[in-house]
Formats: sequence, structure tokens, C-alpha cells
Amino acid sequence: MNKNSNTKSSNDSQKSKITLISLHGLIRGDNPELGRDSDTGGQVIYVLELARELAKHPDVREVELLTRQIVDDKVSSDYAQLEEQIAENAKIVRIPFGPKKYLRKELLWPYIEVFTDQTLSYFKRSGLPDIIHGHYADAGLAGAHLARLLHIPYIFTGHSLGRVKQERLLAKGSTAESIEKKYNISTRIEAEEVALETATMVVTSTSQEVEEQYKLYEQYDPSRMEVIPPGVDLTNFSPTANSSVDSVRTKVGRFLSDLEKPVILTIARLDERKNLETLVRVFGQSQRLREVANLVVVLGTRKKLADLTKPERRIFDNVLSLIDDYDLYGSIAYPKTLAPGEVSEFYRLAASTQGVFVNPALTEPFGLTLLEAAGTGLPIVATNDGGPRDIIENCQNGLLIDPLDEEDIEHALLRILTDSEQWEEFSKQGIAGAHKHYSWSNHADRYLRDLKDILKYSEKPVLASSFPKRRLPTFDRLIITDLDNTLTGDEEAVREFTKIIEENDKIGFGIATGRTLTNALELIHKLKLPMPDVLDTSVGTALHYGEDQIEDRSWRRQIDFNWKPDEIRKVLEDVPGLSLQSAENQSDFKISYEIDTTLAPKAAEIRKILRQAKLRANLIFSLGMYLDVIPVRGGSGNTLRHLLYKWGFAPEQVLVAGDSGNDEGMLKGRTLGVVVGNHSPELNKLKKLPRIYFAKAEHAHGIIEGIQYYNFLDHIKIPNDDLE
Ligand code: GLC
Ligand code: MG
Repeated sequence: MNKNSNTKSSNDSQKSKITLISLHGLIRGDNPELGRDSDTGGQVIYVLELARELAKHPDVREVELLTRQIVDDKVSSDYAQLEEQIAENAKIVRIPFGPKKYLRKELLWPYIEVFTDQTLSYFKRSGLPDIIHGHYADAGLAGAHLARLLHIPYIFTGHSLGRVKQERLLAKGSTAESIEKKYNISTRIEAEEVALETATMVVTSTSQEVEEQYKLYEQYDPSRMEVIPPGVDLTNFSPTANSSVDSVRTKVGRFLSDLEKPVILTIARLDERKNLETLVRVFGQSQRLREVANLVVVLGTRKKLADLTKPERRIFDNVLSLIDDYDLYGSIAYPKTLAPGEVSEFYRLAASTQGVFVNPALTEPFGLTLLEAAGTGLPIVATNDGGPRDIIENCQNGLLIDPLDEEDIEHALLRILTDSEQWEEFSKQGIAGAHKHYSWSNHADRYLRDLKDILKYSEKPVLASSFPKRRLPTFDRLIITDLDNTLTGDEEAVREFTKIIEENDKIGFGIATGRTLTNALELIHKLKLPMPDVLDTSVGTALHYGEDQIEDRSWRRQIDFNWKPDEIRKVLEDVPGLSLQSAENQSDFKISYEIDTTLAPKAAEIRKILRQAKLRANLIFSLGMYLDVIPVRGGSGNTLRHLLYKWGFAPEQVLVAGDSGNDEGMLKGRTLGVVVGNHSPELNKLKKLPRIYFAKAEHAHGIIEGIQYYNFLDHIKIPNDDLE
């Protein structure tokens, strides 16, 4: 398609701004360090290419790719730059959150809410996007939070999925506990569920991904899923690319005794999922394979073995011992450091020997290396999973194998290596098919066609317009507290707390409660509290300001997104252990139950029941006896962030206090959290998080202890801030 032909057709205001989020790994536009570690792989290229290609399109005003800022001597200072232009209308924006140093993706979970808060301040400065697109579980969750809060439509791409990984590892004999410990898998899976629940569109790369992988999710809804294969930049991957293969030939020549033999090539990170050991074992055990071919294993860039992580090192050591056990010296090469351009030469070297590319990974949602091999005219043998299946169907350039079946792998390799007619055919078809089916401009066209539909049916984000100034902004800080059991419970302490509020007129006072507005007001009068400046009631589903309880209408707008209260009540009617609370506790956007935990199913099970009925909602458990079901855009966390964003409070200026599950959302993030001493056990999990202080004192005395802890009335200090 000619990109310039319709440049004039859309004026700037109709053009979209797209925010992509991809949080883990090392992302930079210039010379991305692919294969440097297991978090820096195909996804990095995917998001960079997507950003660049979308930005070229005349319907797009701007693309920003949000990722994590990393300030760490162990990695390049490029990753510390706050912004990096990567194309004319596209840039990387690096948001600082959590510790500054580089962290592997499994360790990012505690900081997701911090990212959300930081991104809100960023949006405040730079303007809101028209669409948010989260990549992988971590950014999937963060993007879902932002989209729900801002009422911006949301796109999700999983890239690879926790439930799939879990199944595969279980099949290989790992225990559920060890998988959990190593990969935080249940957190990841729940993040994926939330992302799927929020997404208007899920972009997948292959149809198998939809049918076999996303299908494992409670939020599986194929009608929202689009298969849009990504493009693959094949410029450097063609049989005729002009640089010579001499340098890689020299590299493998140091290992191999007969350089003329066909090369079986594999290129993979040292990642358990890549199943490298199986491949080496297959080669070692097969007399025939060893006769006809060499094995070349390209394992990503490494400088020193000592720099490898423990799991990487383990795989490397296993490969070495297999080489030794089978005495593969002279017929296997595992060359060291790769220069960035060199990867393509390995494919060409293998193709020039009439070799084969093999990818025996346990799961392969896409398989970038397979398309690079295809483009170079190198036939492939690949795992029978999502990506490879579509590639081989589209390109007819090789054979599928079962990665756990060693004989199957051996036979497929031999077939291609020994049948030269077949080899020629696979080679030719691969080159043609890869270019035809996998280009980024095709991808962007299809993506933007879908996006147009999405935007046509979405309203403007609630926070897009500016607001008239009211009373709130005259405060320079805010205290927001829950009522029951946090503020209440000790009358003497309530009086002390009230005095603090009354004597500090720069401090705004807010209440966030599970009670309805009417119920909350009753209690406020009874306790003789000052009238709150902010009233967040019914578990973060209603927001009012000041003496006259003026409703925040921008908050109210679209809170009912996907909200089907009648159906929810119906589905939960027969669940044992759940009984509706009295009518005065119910409100438009809150269905409240009492829950008898000895009879009721577990939280995850109740969630599943709703999801399987295709109902989207937030479930909030409190005090081991209440369950509130609210819209996905509700909750004390969303309300609080709306408030900060709308009135321009920095999170550091806001102290938040609570005691139970319905306070969890607002306690997380960059605000200053205080959990009172008499809190209920469901909040224990917050102990790991930054900026949450667990007071010893109970009830309102606990809040006061928190106020002192942060020195909140004077120069605020944040002693438990492990962000630095
Ligand atoms: C308050 C509300 C109740 C809710 C509970 C937990 O007690 O009155 O309806 O379920 O908070 O949020
Ligand atoms: Mg409470």
C-alpha cells in the first residue's frame, strides 16, 4: 500500500495516539540486545516494529511505547534515558518504577501499581492516548488498570501465556509448588485474566494461540480475538544478502572436523522452554544424524559464563555434559559472542550446506527464528504448536514434531537432510511464503482497520477534558481513610484524629468506605466528624465532594461499562454460603453479600463462576465475611487514582488508611499507605509492598501513628520507600 497516497485524508484531530506498554526486558530502538537474557527476546522486536509501522500510517498521530526505566551499571545507560525517538512519530518513554536496577520479569509484580501511578502523572503532562495496548501479563495488567481508570479502550497481546507454561512444565514433571515459586505463575495468570477481561480486542499471532492457549482462560471470548500475524523484517534474511558467511564459518570451524556436512542449526536463548537439552540428546543418540550432519547451537550472546543467571548456567552445563557424554567433539559447535548482524549469517551458512533449522521449544506461540530461516531458504523442523503450525501451513517449508518425542525429532531431521528434492521445494516455498504472509505493513493495516471500529464505538476518555477549579485543589495534601474499624472503634482516638484534621486546614479530609453514601453520612454525623472534602462510597463506585456532596460526574460516566447486575445476582444466587446483605447496603454499582466461608467456594472459584457466565466484575472480599461485586471500573484504587489525576495531587501528598480487603486497591501504589494494627488478615499480603506502613496502634490511633511515621503534617518523609 502506498503510504503517501492518503496522507491528506485525515486531519490531526482525527488521527489516533496509541500507547503501547511492554515492561520487561531491555528495550531500545537502536541495536536491541536480543538474546542478552531471557526477557529480551522476540517481544522486544515485536513492540518496536509495531510502534514504528503504526506510526507511519496516515491515520496515526503518534505512537509511544512505555517501558521501565533502568538505571544500572550492569546494563547500558541507554535504558536510563527517559525518552528515545525511534521513528518520525514514535518514541520509547521510560517510566521509573520500583527499584532502579534491572529486574527479571517475575520480580516486577509488586511494582505494577507504582507504574500505574507514574504513568498517570506522565499522561497528565503529555496527554491521554486514544487506545492503550498492553503486551504480556505484566503490562497486560498495568494497561488494564489504566484503561479501566481512564475509560480508554484496551487492546491486549499475551505473547506467551502462564496457563500454557504451567501445563507444559507439569507435563515435564515439575511440581506445582516449584513452578509457583520460580515463576510466580498464579500472579501471572490472574493478571492475564484481568487483561483479557478488560480488553476490547486481543491481538494474537496465530489461530492456534486462540484455540488452544487463550482457550485455557476463564475470560476466553474468541469474538474479541483477532489473529493478525506480525511482520518479520526479512531484509537481512535472504539467501542472496550480500555479506559473506566467512566470519561465522570461521567461528564454527573451530569446533567442527568436517565443515562440508549439512548444518542442523538452532538459535535459542538459554531458556528451559527452548528444550535444548532434548535436541542435543537426539543428536548424540543418533548414529545416522551424526554421520550426515553437524549440529550448530547458537545460544545468544554471552561474554563470560559467570555472567549467566543460575538457570541459564544450568542449561549450559547440561548441554556441555551431554556433549561430553556422547563425545560429540568435532560434530557440534556452540559459538560464542554474536555481533548483531551475524545471526543472519548462520542461517545462510546452514542453507549453503543444505542443512535444516530446528526449533524444538516446548511451546512456541510464534517462532520468529522459523520465519528468518524460511526467508533465508532454510527448511525447518519445529515444535507442533501455535506459531510453527501456521507458518508451515502458510509457507509449506518444513515438518512439525512433538518436542517430547525424541524419535520424531530424529526422523524429521533425517528426512529433510537426506531428500534433496524435498529440500529444494521447502527452501523455495519458505522464501516466497515468508514474504507474502508476514509483513509489518500488512499487520498495521489490519490492526488499524480494527482500531477504527473500536474507536467508533467508544466515548471520549472521562478525564480528557479539563475541569473547573473547586475547593479540593486548595489543599496541599490529603488524608483519606476508611470508616469502619479504621477510623471507628476507639472514640478517644477519633477525637484526637478529628482535632488533627481541624487544626490543619491545608490538609483535605476524605473518607473511602464500603458503606453507601447515606449510611456513611449517618455514621459521620454520629461520630461528629468534620464533613469530608471527598466521599468515596459503596466500595469505590460513587464519588462526591464537600458539604453538599456534589457528585463527580466524570467518575460516574461509564462506570457501568459491562455491568450486568441482574445477571450477576442470578448467577450467584445458588452459590452456597453467599447471602445478599440487606437492601440498604445495596446500590446501583455494588452487589453485597455476606459470605460464610465454611460453606462458600474459594475466591478464585467464585471468580471463575462469573467469568464462565461471561460476566465481567471486580470481586472484593473483606473481613472474611463480606463479598462485594462491583463494575470493573470501580474500586477504591480506581477512585483514588481518578481523584489524584483529576485534582493534580502527587501520590506522595496523599496518605491513605485502611483495615480490610475493600481498602486494598487504594493502599497500593505510590500514595503513602497506613494499615491499622487491628487490620484483617487479607491485608497481610501488602507487607511486601513499598510505601505501606503497618501501624502497631489500632483504629484511629493507628492512623495517627502513620501520620507521624510519614511526618505527614510537616516535611513528609518516606522511610519505607524501597524505590531507590
Ligand atoms: C461495609 C458495607 C457492606 C460491605 C462491606 C465490605 O460494611 O456496609 O455492604 O459489604 O463494607 O465492603
Ligand atoms: Mg473497614
